[in-house]
Amino acid sequence: MTEPPTPAHSPKRSTVRSLLRIWPYARPIRWYLAGSTASAMVASLAGLLIPLVLKQIVDGPVSKHDSSGLWWPAALLLVLGLAEALFFGLRRWMLARPLSGVERTMRADLYARLQRLPVTFHDRWASGQLLSRATSDMFTIRLFLAFPLVFLIVNSMVFLVGIAIMFALDWQLAVIAVLPAAPLIMLCSYFERRYSAAARLAQDQNGDLATIVEESVLGIRILKAFGRHRTMAQRFRAQARELRGTELNKARLLANLWAVIVGLPELALGTALAVGVVQVAHDTTTAGTLVAFLSTALALRWPVESLGWLLAYSNEAATATDRFFEVLDAPLADADDVVTATGPDSRPDSDIRDGIRFEGVRFRYPDAPADTPDLLQGVDLHIRHGETMALVGTTGSGKTSMTALLPRLYDPSAGRITLDGADITALSRGRLRELVSVAFEEPTLFSASVRENVLMGAPDADDAALQRALDVAQAQFVRALPQGVDTQVGEQGLSLSGGQRQRLALARAVVGAPDFLVLDDPLSALDVHTEALVEQALRRVLAGTTALVVAHRPSTVLLADRVAMLVDGRIAAVGTHHELLETSPAYRELMSGERVPA
Ligand SMILES: Nc1ncnc2c1ncn2[C@@H]1O[C@H](COP(=O)(O)OP(=O)(O)O)[C@@H](O)[C@H]1O
Ligand SMILES: [Mg+2]
Repeated sequence: MTEPPTPAHSPKRSTVRSLLRIWPYARPIRWYLAGSTASAMVASLAGLLIPLVLKQIVDGPVSKHDSSGLWWPAALLLVLGLAEALFFGLRRWMLARPLSGVERTMRADLYARLQRLPVTFHDRWASGQLLSRATSDMFTIRLFLAFPLVFLIVNSMVFLVGIAIMFALDWQLAVIAVLPAAPLIMLCSYFERRYSAAARLAQDQNGDLATIVEESVLGIRILKAFGRHRTMAQRFRAQARELRGTELNKARLLANLWAVIVGLPELALGTALAVGVVQVAHDTTTAGTLVAFLSTALALRWPVESLGWLLAYSNEAATATDRFFEVLDAPLADADDVVTATGPDSRPDSDIRDGIRFEGVRFRYPDAPADTPDLLQGVDLHIRHGETMALVGTTGSGKTSMTALLPRLYDPSAGRITLDGADITALSRGRLRELVSVAFEEPTLFSASVRENVLMGAPDADDAALQRALDVAQAQFVRALPQGVDTQVGEQGLSLSGGQRQRLALARAVVGAPDFLVLDDPLSALDVHTEALVEQALRRVLAGTTALVVAHRPSTVLLADRVAMLVDGRIAAVGTHHELLETSPAYRELMSGERVPA
């Protein structure tokens, strides 16, 4: 699968702009965020007051050798220390619950979007990429709101207040101490750009890794049977190594920044200390002022040092946000709730019993190579009302693709399809999918009970309908399951055989008694005996519907009233099985498997 373009490298991208897009989700908890920020601010400011009290102690009781004056400042120090601890705790406590709500909402939105996005979107995107967006990226964004967001604000304020205090205490020392700020700011902006590219790369590689894990877990039987697990493990290791390289690169960037962020101020502080001692010796400043100055400067070390990883983390959150919105911004143009044709939700007129019509239908997959011809090149086919039409053709001729057009999993690039005279693009997706029921080639069951799996085809159907559908599909084996129709099947439940799954998928397709039925080779995995039974029962269902049935075997073809043969993207012949056997050598070849001389 091709990776969608990553906008991380587009020049217009900005960390702040990306992060601002979280706002709609953060808005409901804005007061908690504000409260949490205020708490952290109070705690930090309490910490900043401590050096000023120290100054009073040094210049007062200590220099006058008067211990009686120590009590008040000492009590004040205790109160300030307690306040600092209390408010930092309050900050954490305040945000925990609201934040998990934000994460839940974002994840729910992502999931809902994934459900609504067209099949073409899912064709293009690797599932692991979507998985990592729904899990680790959400986590990154939540952590950003909990910590870096609050502390970027608080630490900047604390930094400014601290600098102001330092200037008030001794402006000459303050100038020396803030000199490194200019190179630091430049460095941070350089770092920001490099780091965000690396962070984006790491997240994408994480998604690729998840894809490998997912594919190998789903395909474990095939991998084992073909002895490919070692190859797969190698691929996994190679990808993991790549990710590790990216992570190391990130760590290196951060370490370099860190070295400068920690080293430069330290150097400046050392200089300030030396100058300060000289000043105290010359009596141009008091010992208490120097102590206060240095403790303030030391108290500012955390806000400055934290800048490195706060920036790093904000970057990760910004790229995670980009990845989140790549899915949310993906166009729904082809999606479930968009009615492309104008006009009301025109139901097929119950008076017009026209069946299904394909008129000049052309179709190609969006990701098909440009130099290949269209898969369907003008399909014209009329399935009369109540008729069952078999669709035959060589493997890869486009039969499955043609059936996917009816429920509008894909849209034709030209031509149109009508149901009882109504263009399917004029029907709402919901209505269309009520009318048309499909059993796909690959019978997929979900982790749910047999009942839930079958009733997906008609949520309102009652137990009698469920039993009828199971009978039609010859799925009586269900009765022998441990809990009957309430037995859990699918990945987390009981494993069923291919034929059993196919019969449940068939039951799902017929349970709603749809007006139009599409079956993609529904009997391929059945033994001859069961096939005959299903055919018998299916004959009754097909009698009441208009159906398109993809078939490979003569026995399935015989269920149909007429047969259409798809060759080179067009319907090459239509007729009864016997007519086609007589008139079409290509059809004879297809049905018998014998080679016919051209
Ligand atoms: N989701 C898809 N994206 C791109 N190409 C596809 C997709 N599904 C099928 N194809 C291609 O379309 C062609 C016809 O496939 P299909 O309709 O499944 O054939 P059939 O059911 O007749 O065997 C094949 O060449 C296949 O590779
Ligand atoms: Mg097929």
